[in-house]
Amino acid sequence: MSSVYVTKEIPGLERLAEYDVAVWRGEGPVPHDVLLGEVRDARGLLCMLTDRIDSGLVDSAPHLEVLSQMAVGVDNIDINACRRAGVVVGHTPDVLTETVADSAWALLASIVRRIPEGEREVRAGEWGPWEVFHLAGGDLHRTTLGIVGMGRIGQAVARRAAGFDMEVIYTSPSTLPDSDARRVDLEQLLEQADHVVICTRLDDSTLGLIGADELARMKPMSYLVNVARGPIVDTEALLEALRGGEIAGAALDVTDPEPLPGSHPLLELDNCLVVPHIASASVRTRNEMARLAIDNLVAGLEGRDLPARFPPDG
Ligand code: GLV
Ligand code: GLV
Repeated sequence: MSSVYVTKEIPGLERLAEYDVAVWRGEGPVPHDVLLGEVRDARGLLCMLTDRIDSGLVDSAPHLEVLSQMAVGVDNIDINACRRAGVVVGHTPDVLTETVADSAWALLASIVRRIPEGEREVRAGEWGPWEVFHLAGGDLHRTTLGIVGMGRIGQAVARRAAGFDMEVIYTSPSTLPDSDARRVDLEQLLEQADHVVICTRLDDSTLGLIGADELARMKPMSYLVNVARGPIVDTEALLEALRGGEIAGAALDVTDPEPLPGSHPLLELDNCLVVPHIASASVRTRNEMARLAIDNLVAGLEGRDLPARFPPDG
């Protein structure tokens, strides 16, 4: 049995040469029962957001000292169980912030300007004569952008709005200093925004945050983007809102369930764009995330403070 278990082959694992390391090299995520067996003797675990780190798993790992996740979101981890067991948790904030913000804008621009619909039409050989309002969509410039969750990623999304001459409103537990963006409550944000981008973390307070009532508050010509976690949005309610024209469209990097089956009714809608949880997937950023995940793991194994601990104040 190994002292370190890694649930995905990632760059930089040679830095762990002095430890007895085992790596899951199978297809897809490591099966939960395999993981349960592998952590029995492990001092360190480097995991992915697709691994369910529940209290049962933490209990099965009596020697575990550090859990390092290669992701910023840690909703798959029972943080309280880790705290009780004295396991420190690391994650990968900051290094992915700008890439996720780029992706949020790519998704927003695509759905607002109806890029996927146009592309599908051309590929299908259905590019017909030019028409005045064919595929006419919304605008980005001089609209109001509503950001749900003004953390690092939300702020990076907001910075990019300046180039589009947009007004920015946001929800957050606290007001940002030195910002032209306006803090509002969720109801106001939904009623005023032309585009709503979800950047908040998933926890008990944000599970199902955007349901039927919230979608009904949005403007009929507004667009919703989710680059956070699928379960923040009620999928059935979103489906109904898109079908019924309560909102103009949605672009999702994350869904509930995930992966979204190819037969899912959301995928039958022209006004819904779905990509497979790739918002941080630039080559540079994924390398940085791997580096930071290994930095966190090694620091934990050496009994040092983690460069990026969750929660930061332990
Ligand atoms: C990706 O979703 C992450 O949390 O890093
Ligand atoms: C995480 O929630 C972030 O905003 O980076």
